[in-house]
Amino acid sequence: MKMISPSLLSADFGNLQRDIEMLNASECDWLHVDVMDGLFVPNISFGQPIVKHIKKHAQKPLDVHLMIEDPGRYVQDFRDAGADILTIHYEACRHHDRVLHAIHDAGMKCGVVLNPSSPVCLLEDIVQLCDVVLLMSVNPGFGGQKFIENTILKVQRLRRLIDDHGSKALIEVDGGVQGDTAPRLVQAGVDVLVSGSYVFKSPTPEQTIHELRSL
Ligand code: DX5
Ligand code: ZN
Repeated sequence: MKMISPSLLSADFGNLQRDIEMLNASECDWLHVDVMDGLFVPNISFGQPIVKHIKKHAQKPLDVHLMIEDPGRYVQDFRDAGADILTIHYEACRHHDRVLHAIHDAGMKCGVVLNPSSPVCLLEDIVQLCDVVLLMSVNPGFGGQKFIENTILKVQRLRRLIDDHGSKALIEVDGGVQGDTAPRLVQAGVDVLVSGSYVFKSPTPEQTIHELRSL
């Protein structure tokens, strides 16, 4: 059984509470929260005030994916806003060891995110510190994009790297996760599936979450 982290980026922002309550009632494990700064990625989504409101209604851990430059500046802010898992992009951060420790010290689970063009070998010296490694299977910034096939090989490489280093990190994949890609990701060794448009555009999102989770 896989863990599911539906991405609220595809929720109806005018009815966020309703959509969060749907997720509370579903079998999903985490709520995936995409924070974008318009600099690291071209898009701007939302910041701490909205995360705080999400936290007020959510009954499951908030899996906050920071797509922002120099994420170390905001560790405490997102802890205060209610993040339970905080992931930072490898490409947006200079001092990974320092920031990952800061996330742990603030009482959250931590993780590193890799863009599609960043190889998993970059993680050799930090994978032991990670609770989660998030592989982007699209270029970050937008929902509803096409899955990049190379991710399947990357998941297999990451699984080997995690095992070789005796790390306990979960493998999470984000972008283009849907009916055809999800089973292949699971077979390749993924632990946590993020899914935005596929879940929220489904006529029966709770059922779709159930199906993804049962893969
Ligand atoms: C993209 C975000 C994703 C996004 C995924 O940069 O990190 O979490 O919501 O959306 P889908 O599942 O529609 O590809
Ligand atoms: Zn994301």
